[in-house]
Amino acid sequence: MSRSVVILGTQWGDEGKGKIVDLLAHDADAVVRFQGGHNAGHTLVVDGKKTVLHLIPSGILTQRARCLIGNGVVVAPAALIKEIDGLEQHDIEVRSRLGLSGACPVILSCHEALDQARERAKGKKAIGTTGRGIGPVYEDKASRHGIRLADLTDPKRLADKLGGVLDYHNFLLQHYYQADPLDVAEVSDQAAMLGEQLKPMLCDVTADLHALRAQGKALLFEGAQGSLLDIDHGTYPFVTSSNTTIGGVMTGAGVSPQDIDYVLGITKAYTTRVGAGPFPTELDDDYGHRMAERGVEFGATTGRPRRCGWIDAVALRRMVKINGITGLCITKLDVLDGFDQVKVCVDYDGIDHFPLGAEEWADARPVYETIPGWQGNTRGMTDADALPAGARAYLERLEELVEAPVHMLSTGPEREAGVIFQHPYASA
Ligand code: GDP
Ligand code: IMO
Ligand code: MG
Repeated sequence: MSRSVVILGTQWGDEGKGKIVDLLAHDADAVVRFQGGHNAGHTLVVDGKKTVLHLIPSGILTQRARCLIGNGVVVAPAALIKEIDGLEQHDIEVRSRLGLSGACPVILSCHEALDQARERAKGKKAIGTTGRGIGPVYEDKASRHGIRLADLTDPKRLADKLGGVLDYHNFLLQHYYQADPLDVAEVSDQAAMLGEQLKPMLCDVTADLHALRAQGKALLFEGAQGSLLDIDHGTYPFVTSSNTTIGGVMTGAGVSPQDIDYVLGITKAYTTRVGAGPFPTELDDDYGHRMAERGVEFGATTGRPRRCGWIDAVALRRMVKINGITGLCITKLDVLDGFDQVKVCVDYDGIDHFPLGAEEWADARPVYETIPGWQGNTRGMTDADALPAGARAYLERLEELVEAPVHMLSTGPEREAGVIFQHPYASA
C-alpha cells in the first residue's frame, strides 16, 4: 500500500492540482509543499465555497492533515500571514496545524521590486512572471547570500545579513533598473516583526516527515506550477525558478526516493499556459475560445487570461518519464463535452529531438491525431460506467500515447466531481 504520494503538474501549471490535493488529503496525515512560492494559485471548491491557496498546502480544509512547508519553498512572510488570517477569519484553524522550515528563503520587498523592474526592462521579451519576486529570491539562495525564515527570529543575525543583501539589491534597482531603492531600516523592522509572528510555526520539517514515515503515516507532497515550467526541463527561459519536477520533492523537503511510493501526474484534458513562451498546440480559433470560456481560464494568482490549446502527448510523454509518473489524473474533461472533435499532438515536425529551450521549441510544429468528440455531459460525473464512449476512447488513446495509466478523472471544480479508477493510496 502506498503511504507517500506526490502530486505534480505535468503541463504549464493550473492543471487542477489543488482540487486533487484537497481530495486526497482526507487520506493523508501530512500535506507538504516543497518548491515554488506564492506564485502558485490552487483553487478548492468545497460545499459550493471557493478557496484559493497560494502558499498554504491544500490539505488545510480537511481536519486531519498537518500542513508543512519544506525548505524548497520561498516564503513571503506578509503574504503568508495574510493567507493564514484570511482562512482563520473563516474559522479554519491554521496556526496550530502549519509547520514551516526555518531554511525557507525569504522573499523581501526588494525581490518583488527587482522581479517587476526586470520584467519592465525586458519589454516585449518579458517572461510574464507573476511579479512575486520568485526569480530574484532563488538567485539569492543560489548565490548564498539569501535570508532564511530562521534568520528573521534573531534580530542581530537579521540586521547583519540584511544590510549586505539590501545594499546589493538597492544598487541594482537604482543604477541598473532606474527604480526606487528600498529603505533598509523599514525592510528590516518589518521582517523582524513578521518573523516574530511566524516563529511559533517553525519546525524541522524534514525530521517531522521522517518521524511520520517511520510511524507508517500517509504523506502527500503538493507540487506547484507544472513540469514544463521546470527551471531545468521546461521551456527555458520561459520557466519558473524552481525544480517543479520530481527532484524538487527530495531537495525541497529532505526525503529520499525511497520515501516516495506513488507519483500522480495532474494533466488537463487540453493545455493552458499563462505568461509568455513556447506553446506548440496553442489555438486562436473557436475551439480555443471555447476552452477558455467553458474552462474559465483566468489565472488564480494574477487574473490574467490563460492561453489555451490541444493536449500535447509529445511533451506529456517526456514529463511522464522525467517524473516517474505512476498514474495520471485527467482534469477538466467536462470542458471538452460537446466538441465535435478533439485533437492530440502526437509528434513535432521541424525538430528530431525533444526541444532544449525556447529557440528549439519555436521550430516545433505540432502533428495532430484527430479523435471524434462526444455528446453528453460529463460535468460533475462520478460514475465511471456513465462515461460517454467517446470520452473513454479519448482517455484510452492518451494512455497509449503518453505511456501512463489514467487512475483518476476530474469532471468539475467541486471536491467530489470525478472518478477514481485506482486510488493512489490503495496502489501496491
Ligand atoms: P492548480 O494551480 O493546478 O491548483 O489549478 P488552478 O486552481 O489554478 O486552476 C484550475 C481551475 O480549474 C480552478 O478554477 C478549478 O476550480 C478548476 N477545476 C479543477 N478541476 C476541474 C474540472 O475537472 N472541471 C472544471 N470544469 N474545472 C475544474
Ligand atoms: P500553479 O501552482 C501557472 C508562470 C508565470 C510565468 C512563469 C514564471 O497555480 O500551477 P514566476 O513568477 O514563477 O517567476 O513566473 O511561470 N507560473 C505559473 N503558471 N501556474 C502557476 O502555478 C504558475 N506559477 C508561475 O505565469 O510564465
Ligand atoms: Mg494555479
